[in-house]
Amino acid sequence: MRFSPRFVEELRDRVSITDVVGRKVKLVRRGRNHLGLCPFHSEKTPSFNVNADKGFYHCFGCGVHGDAITFVMETEGLSFPEAVEQLASSVGMPLPARDERDDAREKSRRSLYDVMELASLFFESELKGSRGAKARAYLDGRQLVGPSVEPFRLGFAPDSRSALKEHLISKGVLVEDMVEAGLLIAPDDGGAPYDRFRGRVIFPIADGRGRVIAFGGRTLDPDGKPKYLNSPETPLFKKSTVLFNLGAARKAASQGAMLIAVEGYVDVIALVAAGFHGAVAPLGTALTEEHLEMMWRIAPEPVLCFDGDAAGIKAAQRGIDLALPLLEPGQSLRFALLPGGQDPDDLIRAQGAAAMQTVLDEAVGLADMLWRREIAEADLATPERRAGAEANLMRHVGEIREPKVREHYRTAMGQRLKELFQPAGSGGDRRGGYDGQRRQGGGGWSRGGPGYAPRASFRPGPQDKINGRPTWTPPVSEALRRSVAGRGSVRSTEPLKAGAAGEEALLLAGLTHPFLIEEFAEQFASMPIAEPILDKLRRELLHAASSGQTLDSQGLRDHLRLNGAADICERLERRPMLRAMAMTRRETPHHEVLREFQHVLARHRKLTELESEHAQAAEALKREATEDNVARLRAIAEELNSIIGAEAGPPDAF
Ligand code: UTP
Ligand code: MN
Repeated sequence: MRFSPRFVEELRDRVSITDVVGRKVKLVRRGRNHLGLCPFHSEKTPSFNVNADKGFYHCFGCGVHGDAITFVMETEGLSFPEAVEQLASSVGMPLPARDERDDAREKSRRSLYDVMELASLFFESELKGSRGAKARAYLDGRQLVGPSVEPFRLGFAPDSRSALKEHLISKGVLVEDMVEAGLLIAPDDGGAPYDRFRGRVIFPIADGRGRVIAFGGRTLDPDGKPKYLNSPETPLFKKSTVLFNLGAARKAASQGAMLIAVEGYVDVIALVAAGFHGAVAPLGTALTEEHLEMMWRIAPEPVLCFDGDAAGIKAAQRGIDLALPLLEPGQSLRFALLPGGQDPDDLIRAQGAAAMQTVLDEAVGLADMLWRREIAEADLATPERRAGAEANLMRHVGEIREPKVREHYRTAMGQRLKELFQPAGSGGDRRGGYDGQRRQGGGGWSRGGPGYAPRASFRPGPQDKINGRPTWTPPVSEALRRSVAGRGSVRSTEPLKAGAAGEEALLLAGLTHPFLIEEFAEQFASMPIAEPILDKLRRELLHAASSGQTLDSQGLRDHLRLNGAADICERLERRPMLRAMAMTRRETPHHEVLREFQHVLARHRKLTELESEHAQAAEALKREATEDNVARLRAIAEELNSIIGAEAGPPDAF
C-alpha cells in the first residue's frame, strides 16, 4: 500500500466530488444532492446521484456506488495509486513521503525504466543505421512502416552478443542492471552475460503509461526459432498483467473506439494502422483473468478476436471459461473469429479494413458463444444426448459467480432450451421434425452473417421422425392417413428424409468440388439446413471459401479437420446413397457436376418450402378439422410425393 489511509482520507475531503464527476457528467442540483445521467449504464432519465457532503455517488438505476477515487478509476481506467496521484495533483496536494523501503524500490525501478528506455533508443537507431538494412526491408515487406507505425518505436537488435551491452556500458549502465532488466542473459556457469536479443526486429512493450518495460524480438529468418523472443519476467514486466498497446488503446476506447484483444502484437500494429486504435494483445501468453479485468476497466464489452486456426478456436473456448466466473452486471465479452486460418494482419492485408470491420461487427456475445458450444454444435440426436448437453450448459452457467448475472443466464438459457426442444405452438408430443422449425431459422437470437450465425434449429434423429407423427383428431386422422398413404410407398414423413438427404448431398458435392462453394456461396449460405452439425459444416465451408485462398478439396479437408468438422465429412462420405450421385464423385466433369448440383439445389429448396407449408397445413388441420384443411394438406402431400416419387426412383436412392 503506497498511500496511508490518512492521506487517502484527506484527499477525499479535499477534492470536490461534484467537480470530479462534473467533468464527465452534466449535473443538476437537487436539494442537497446533484443529479445526472449515469455514465455507467445507458439511461434517458437521470438516476445518478452525487452527494457532495458525504463525497459519494450512487446510481439508483444500475446500483453503482463509489467516491471520487473510484470514479476516476472507473471512468479513466486507472489503478488506485494512479487515480490517487491524479486527484492529488488536481487539488495541489503534495504526495506523501513514502516509507524508505518503498522509496528504494521506486528508485531502483526508475533506474530500470531508464535502462529500458536507453535500450529502446539504441534499437531504434540500429534499425535506421547500416546494420538495420535487412530488418528495414523485412518491415517494409510486411508494410510495418510509415507514420501510423512510428508510435510503436520499432527497432532492430544487431546480430551480436555484445552490441547492446557495450552501448549501455558506454552510457554508464551497470551490467547487473542490464541482467535484471532482462536485456542480457547471464549464463549459469558464471560466464560473461551477453545480449539476449540478436538479429531480431524489436517491438518495445510499454506499460499503461507508455514506459518501456520489455521487448519482443521477431526473427528475420522464416525458419528462425523461436519466432518471437520476449523479455523474461523482470521487476518491471509481469506478462500476465501486461497488454501490448494498452495505454493508447485506453485513450482510444475512452473516445469511443472498440476495445479489441488479438493474439499477436504484429496484429495490433496492423489494426492500429488500419484505424482500429483500441487493439491490444497479451505477450507470449494466453489471456489471463488479470488481462480481462484490465480490459473491463476500460470497456464493458471488449471483443476477443482470435485467429481462425485450431489454436484460435481453442483460445476462444478458453476465453469463455475464463470469463464466465468473472461476469458482472453490464460486464461481458464478445468473440470474433477470423475466417480460414487468418490472423488480423493477414486479413487486413488481403482484404482491407472493411473486411476486418465486418468480422468485428459479427462478433458473438458470450451467452451466444456458450450456447453455440454446448448446444447448437452438439449432437442432439437422442434424448440422452439432449439431456447431457443441457446439463453441461447449466453447469457452465453455474460457474458465474455474480448472482444477478447467473440468474439472468439461467433464465435466458432455460428459455432457449424450451424453444429448442419444444417449438412454440407444439401441443405436447408433436415432434414431427420439421414443424415450424425451418421457419424459425436461428430462433431469433442469432447475430451476424451466415458465416458466424449460431443456429438454434434442431432436427430430431430419424427415429423421432417416424414416431412423431402429428396428432390428429381420430376421424380426420384416418381420412388423412388413407389419402396420404394411398399412393404407395411415399408417406408424409418421407419428404423429410428427402430434404435432409438433399442438404447432405449438396454439402458433400461442395466438399468434393470446392469450386461450387465459391460459385454458389450465396446459395450455400441461404439454403435451408436444419441439422446443427450440417450447419456447422456449411459454415466451415463458407469460412474456407471466404479466406481468399483458392480452394482445393484437400485444403478444404485440412481446414475442416482443424475446425472440428472432420467427423461429419466422413459420415457423409460413407453414405452409399450420397456416393451414388455423380456430383459427389471426384472424376465427374465440372459441367455435369454443375448441372446436377443446380438441379438438386432447386429441388431441395422446393422440398423444404413444401415441408414448411405441409407443417403449417398440418397445424391448421389440428386446430380445425375441416374438409378444406384436409384437402390442403393432401394437396401439399401429393405435390411432395410427386417430386420425390417422380425423380428419385426408389426413395432410398436419395
Ligand atoms: P503467432 O505465431 O500467431 O504470430 O504468435 P503472428 O502474430 O502471426 O506473427 P507473424 O505474423 O508470423 O510475425 C502470436 C503471438 O504469440 C507470441 C507473440 O506474442 C506473438 O505476437 N509468440 C509467438 C511468442 O511469444 N513466441 C513465439 O515463438 C511465437
Ligand atoms: Mn501474423
